[in-house]
Amino acid sequence: MRLHNPGLSSVGYLFFLCAIKLVCFPASQIQTVTLIPGDGIGPEISNAVMKIFEAAKAPIRWEERNVTAIRGPGGKWMIPPDAKESMDKNKIGLKGPLKTPIAAGHPSMNLLLRKTFDLYANVRPCVSIEGYQTPYTDVNLVTIRENTEGEYSGIEHVIVDGVVQSIKLITEQASKRIAEYAFEYARNNQRASVTAVHKANIMRMSDGLFLRKCREAAEKYKDVKFTEMYLDTVCLNMVQDPTQFDVLVMPNLYGDILSDLCAGLIGGLGVTPSGNIGANGVAIFESVHGTAPDIAGKDLANPTALLLSAVMMLRHMGLHGHAKKIETACFDTIRDRKVLTKDLGGNSKCSEFTEAICQRMKDMD
Ligand SMILES: NC(=O)c1ccc[n+]([C@@H]2O[C@H](COP(=O)([O-])OP(=O)(O)OC[C@H]3O[C@@H](n4cnc5c(N)ncnc54)[C@H](O)[C@@H]3O)[C@@H](O)[C@H]2O)c1
Repeated sequence: MRLHNPGLSSVGYLFFLCAIKLVCFPASQIQTVTLIPGDGIGPEISNAVMKIFEAAKAPIRWEERNVTAIRGPGGKWMIPPDAKESMDKNKIGLKGPLKTPIAAGHPSMNLLLRKTFDLYANVRPCVSIEGYQTPYTDVNLVTIRENTEGEYSGIEHVIVDGVVQSIKLITEQASKRIAEYAFEYARNNQRASVTAVHKANIMRMSDGLFLRKCREAAEKYKDVKFTEMYLDTVCLNMVQDPTQFDVLVMPNLYGDILSDLCAGLIGGLGVTPSGNIGANGVAIFESVHGTAPDIAGKDLANPTALLLSAVMMLRHMGLHGHAKKIETACFDTIRDRKVLTKDLGGNSKCSEFTEAICQRMKDMD
């Protein structure tokens, strides 16, 4: 291709070259990501991810922020302003686990993050990992959970002594948003079908509204097959043959339970990645296991879930080459079964597992 354009001045030519670089190579530019290491094993597994990213030469600069609940004006619980500013600016975050002290007075930081950034879709791909044996061999599905309302609206009250009421809130706007996201996700990720999971036979109004919005979204995405199924039927069919499912979309509580069940099919929370997609282009990717206080600080944690969440993040950012390289090195290391952390059936430390992945990537270069 001849780049020289006689119609351009030298300054114009320079701009022309820059524009071509931006269009052709946007992925190679260094992008800043907010890193929330979290508590317990969080800092150890975050370090592992940073090391692996460095070895993969991924064009990511990390901006580390701590997230502890603070009181804002009027006593309202909020995340620290520097963490919020960092996320507002960078739009993309990677988060380790955060402890939720029982009876600490403040809400769960995970919930607060979801609310602060309107993280409305929780996306969890569950794909069988070769070499890590479970009763199921070829699981390949994605759960998409509405993350902002339903049973998690937090509206509860005492009606009279001994009688409490919890409100399940379903809105047209949130149901439409998650339904359309699920179809868009299916289309963009070459997935053939979306199943709406519901109990509209019992909760006719609330789940009925959710289901109606899914049906309406299906009308707009005729290229994606649409099915609808009761939650209990999905659970039964899932444990009998998970290969019949592709993308599943559902309200909050069903998603909470079903996404953990699906994680169990591929080996548990230690190997399951997750992404939370929000309004205004914000997205936070996170490991879904907890802070593992029993092994924190002992170099025993398995960083796979956070690493695969970071791989999901790279794909979300369009960095497919780096994502593939890291994912391949991680899966090859697990398949090889020579260097594995204890939870994966091995005897290696977190740092040794990390080094094995780094070495594989160096060997690929
Ligand atoms: N997304 C999150 O931030 C999140 C999720 C769940 C729990 N939590 C919090 O974490 C704390 C502890 O919760 P928990 O004990 O119920 O669950 P947990 O996930 O921390 O631990 C359960 C078991 O799994 C093991 N485990 C978890 N992650 C592991 C990893 N990466 N590698 C190896 N082993 C791992 C632990 O050692 C433990 O035996 C609580 O404060 C809870 O609120 C946070």
